[in-house]
Amino acid sequence: MLVTANKSWLNEQMMAEEKDNSKQNVWSLQRLPELTTAQFLKWQRLLEERIGISITPQRQSFLQTNLGARMREIGCQSYEEYYQRVNSGTEGIIEWSVLVDRLTVQETRFYRDLDSLDLVKDYILTRPVDELKASPPELWSVGCSTGEEPYSLAMLMFECMDLLKLQVYFGITGSDISKPALEKAKKGLYPARKLVTLSEELRDKYFTKQEPGDQFAIAKSIKDRVCFARINITELGNAPMHGMTIIYCQNVLIYFRKWRRKEILSRLAERLRPGGLLVLGQGEITEWEHPDLLRVKTDKALAFIRKPDKN
Ligand SMILES: C[S@@+](CC[C@H](N)C(=O)[O-])C[C@H]1O[C@@H](n2cnc3c(N)ncnc32)[C@H](O)[C@@H]1O
Repeated sequence: MLVTANKSWLNEQMMAEEKDNSKQNVWSLQRLPELTTAQFLKWQRLLEERIGISITPQRQSFLQTNLGARMREIGCQSYEEYYQRVNSGTEGIIEWSVLVDRLTVQETRFYRDLDSLDLVKDYILTRPVDELKASPPELWSVGCSTGEEPYSLAMLMFECMDLLKLQVYFGITGSDISKPALEKAKKGLYPARKLVTLSEELRDKYFTKQEPGDQFAIAKSIKDRVCFARINITELGNAPMHGMTIIYCQNVLIYFRKWRRKEILSRLAERLRPGGLLVLGQGEITEWEHPDLLRVKTDKALAFIRKPDKN
């Protein structure tokens, strides 16, 4: 009797699941309605408030496509229902991080901006050796995506230490808002196509080909110098980094409104040690000055040095 009851209960469950799945299948083939202006503004506001990213009306279809793709995956039937979902409890926090990952541009590569890296190299090579020994360099790659940027900085630092014939300890932090990007960064495994911008010399020195497959693992010596943290660039007030030697922030500010870029830069300036270097991407901010910073005189990169302390 008990067995029969259980059986029929199971059957009911299976039928309910099938019904549910068929609903999802039908749904996944359905075209999603257009985002209304009111809905677009609501999502735009939420994204801007929480992560600072401004989605202009011209990019409404980008937002709609990404919201729609995610809603189909999880069987969510309306923009409003999905809005409620990302705003509710622990589940909402997890769903929000998936969405943010979809909406942020994570394009990056090793040794992406050679001119800026040359500037970093010159800066390190011209530091007094006593200073390097007494206070080991601390670098921060802000908006590091999948790790190519902080790992490039680590390779560059090793190259500098070789040239200076020094063995000082240096540390690099890579931070980003995207959890999946940081997970990839921590693994330090990259497909061959990601390494095409690297010289053969650097590739052979700092990567090992994994067999079988076309993955390359970054050297332990590099990995050991880099740590990763999830930090929202609009909430730098809570970031534990202070007294940084170099802050490297490229291809991130472009996604923010001008007033917010300035606010972020002021927070970054505070986190530099006197004499520290802030490196941005060319053209990422114009007509910006900070009382504690001096612009580095070069046409090839956009960088600032923090003035020495007054006392
Ligand atoms: C185009 S990638 C730049 C990667 C690297 N800096 C480079 O230049 O190759 C932009 C990165 O900024 C991150 N990002 C966007 N909004 C952010 C925020 N509010 N806080 C922290 N990181 C953010 C994205 O997740 C993405 O990984």
